[in-house]
Amino acid sequence: MKNIILTGDRPTGKLHIGHYVGSLRRRVELQNSGKFDKIYVMVADAQALTDNFENPDKVRENITQVALDYLACGLDPEKSTIFVQSHVAELTELTFYYMNLVTLARLQRNPTVKAEIKQKNFELSLPMGFLTYPVSQTADITAFKANTVPVGEDQLPMLEQAREIVRSFNGLYGETLVEPKAVLPENKSCLRLPGTDGMAKMSKSLGNCIYLADSADEIKRKIMGMYTDPNHLKVTDPGDTKNNPTFIYLDAFVNDGHFERYLPEYANLDEMKAHYERGGLGDMKVKKFLNAVMQETLEPIRLRREELEKDLPAIWEMLRKGSEEARAVAANTLSEVKKAMKIDYFA
Ligand code: TRP
Repeated sequence: MKNIILTGDRPTGKLHIGHYVGSLRRRVELQNSGKFDKIYVMVADAQALTDNFENPDKVRENITQVALDYLACGLDPEKSTIFVQSHVAELTELTFYYMNLVTLARLQRNPTVKAEIKQKNFELSLPMGFLTYPVSQTADITAFKANTVPVGEDQLPMLEQAREIVRSFNGLYGETLVEPKAVLPENKSCLRLPGTDGMAKMSKSLGNCIYLADSADEIKRKIMGMYTDPNHLKVTDPGDTKNNPTFIYLDAFVNDGHFERYLPEYANLDEMKAHYERGGLGDMKVKKFLNAVMQETLEPIRLRREELEKDLPAIWEMLRKGSEEARAVAANTLSEVKKAMKIDYFA
């Protein structure tokens, strides 16, 4: 069997460091590992419209923003096919057939969708498009016969749903589709990076994000203002590193080389955490170190992004080409699906 990756993001804003450690960094590693036959990365504009249909300008503008973030992080259109969901019409057709294989009750039980419905207060005005986006996500994945889907933890219910639909399709119509598995970050701190304010999730609506496109000054200002351990009042007080976002960010970003370069009094993060926990290490010092680490990590990304941003037509052209390529592959799967479903009348 071939090793194929499909993954993507909704273009509803620029990507932040939660996206980076949760999935983007891993995608680039997987891309460069040479272990995959094909890699597809999708800008999920059609899915973004399911809860932003009143705001098409926002979705349109953020398509290039997300593509810039991808390229700046090291996704390479020579190695990965980067495309726009709405321009692969076959995905919509697959979605329609998959809808037969999932019940309303099952969709309503999907924990991620359930939480989003509650958070958005849809109640009875819940749009069908929104409720069924996990089915469309199954189409995204299966159209490319992807077996590997590098995503954040919140996407696990989508993958479970996709596997169920695949099993039910293959059971009814014969082995046609491939069951995908999610790939999550191994480092626990990367599963769900908290916001700079200590809230459980980094999210644009909470205003607690550090964006890949942030300037050096913005990054510094956000880090210096970060929530830490509220009970760590004096430097000599013992501090908590577990629910302390500054240490969670260090967990997600630091390596021993950073200690050599910026804080040689500790060999590694364990030593630094031990000092904070027994007391005697101040928040200011932690934040200054975190800032050095983040600046070193984000500067090359930001500089590449600034270069790429000068030629947006080239970004659109890259997406157009990628979408054309993706379309050919999805069309192939769609004809297999139609054949399996015995609706290939004119073949
Ligand atoms: N739901 C994903 C997100 O919110 C985006 C997405 C759409 C996706 N289709 C996908 C991710 C298929 C992985 C596979 O960011």
